[in-house]
Amino acid sequence: MTTSQRHYHITTFGCQMNKADSERMAGILEDMGFLWSEDPNGADLILYNTCTIRDNAEQKVYSYLGRQAKRKHENPNLTLIVAGCVAQQEGEKILRRIPELDLVMGPQHANRLEDLLEQVFDGNQVVATEAIHIVEDITKPRRDSSVTAWVNIIYGCNERCSYCVVPNVRGVEQSRTPEAIYAEMELLGKQGYKEITLLGQNIDAYGRDLPGVTETGRHQHTLTDLLYQVHEIPGIERLRFATSHPRYFTERLIRACHELPKVCEHFHIPFQSGDNEILKAMKRGYTHEKYRQIIDKIRSYMPDASISADAIVGFPGETEEQFEKTLQLVDDIGFDLLNTAAYSPRPGTPAALWDNQLSEEVKSDRLQRLNHLVSQKAAERSQRYLGRIETVLVEDGNHKDITQVMGRTAGNRLTFFKGNIDELKGQLVKVKITEVRAFSLTGEPIF
Ligand code: SAH
Ligand code: SF4
Ligand code: F3S
Repeated sequence: MTTSQRHYHITTFGCQMNKADSERMAGILEDMGFLWSEDPNGADLILYNTCTIRDNAEQKVYSYLGRQAKRKHENPNLTLIVAGCVAQQEGEKILRRIPELDLVMGPQHANRLEDLLEQVFDGNQVVATEAIHIVEDITKPRRDSSVTAWVNIIYGCNERCSYCVVPNVRGVEQSRTPEAIYAEMELLGKQGYKEITLLGQNIDAYGRDLPGVTETGRHQHTLTDLLYQVHEIPGIERLRFATSHPRYFTERLIRACHELPKVCEHFHIPFQSGDNEILKAMKRGYTHEKYRQIIDKIRSYMPDASISADAIVGFPGETEEQFEKTLQLVDDIGFDLLNTAAYSPRPGTPAALWDNQLSEEVKSDRLQRLNHLVSQKAAERSQRYLGRIETVLVEDGNHKDITQVMGRTAGNRLTFFKGNIDELKGQLVKVKITEVRAFSLTGEPIF
């Protein structure tokens, strides 16, 4: 390593979209000659890719940024970048709070990082938050894993759930072309990747904005069609997709998942609330009955499918009775995993302005009660794995026990077993499950 070599560091907050964006931005930086530094304090360029989904996510970002802004006073050559959803939400305002920033860039600008940095290196302080058409990235992402990869298929979201900042910060839906997606996946297959997760905030919307309709008036490019198209790409053994919206989820998609062996029988379909009045206030566009029908339909094709979801407690005006309907739904469905959150009022969203906000005490009490039920149900769901033989795709070593490797079942359960990571990385291994916990499994390999 020479001292003239420039180093970069990226810290990523938030969802898989941000992680995928960070991998592309890291690819761009490496193309520009930067080297990765695990320690932000050893980097000449620091990029925070930020999340604003809830207030605590946003506050975390400010505390990180504050620390690096101080460092910049001692090291004026440090380049400080805030990217992602907080950058988009705050825009120029963030410069008033942290004038040390060199670049503020929204998620739609991720692929433009090199252009933007050139302006910075010319001595400008740059804010890039205007809505744009997202250009294809021609550099190779620096992916965290060599086994599993994310592929964006649609950016943005056209829904207007009354609590959610995502449409404000990610912009309108923009689907990538099937050709671009296919090309990226084909390359991943050649590079030895075994599993791909297709990404979109509302993945069922894929293709709505692309030209072309079928004879029956359906959009020509849908998620279902895409799954059929990419299924035979050599090397790729597993396909996943997220996130599904109950309003647009189709039986055609369920059938495709059932028919196509590489598509994992795992569905991530947030329901948010088990109460119809609350769902209406959230502007979700479905009822809990419709949600239950979707899950029944999935289970009628694939009885063992694993189901995960997101839920919010303490939405404005939520009564104890309405909250209990969420508990009821969780009890009835039996999720394999549920991401839960207390409602957090977000700037620029309708629900934040309502005067029927609940107290923090009520929200955290409900969150605790829901989480308790969730682990209980997940532990019950885990029982079905005991004694079974599952196929596990080995991703990494177990950092807590170096004699073990870790991977996931098709249903996305984290699984540990004895083995050497150097030999097993990227392999699909049959594992007999001998121990089950709420969210993970242990087993013995059958070679
Ligand atoms: N597009 C996905 C989810 C995007 S955000 C969907 O439609 O479900 C991820 C999750 O964060 C949401 O599912 C929701 O459960 C949660 N979330 C979003 N806004 C929130 C808010 N204001 N307060 C608490 N949780 C929120
Ligand atoms: Fe947010 Fe709703 Fe869009 Fe999901 S579908 S990202 S919750 S607005
Ligand atoms: Fe957060 Fe932005 Fe994702 S707000 S959850 S990083 S889309």
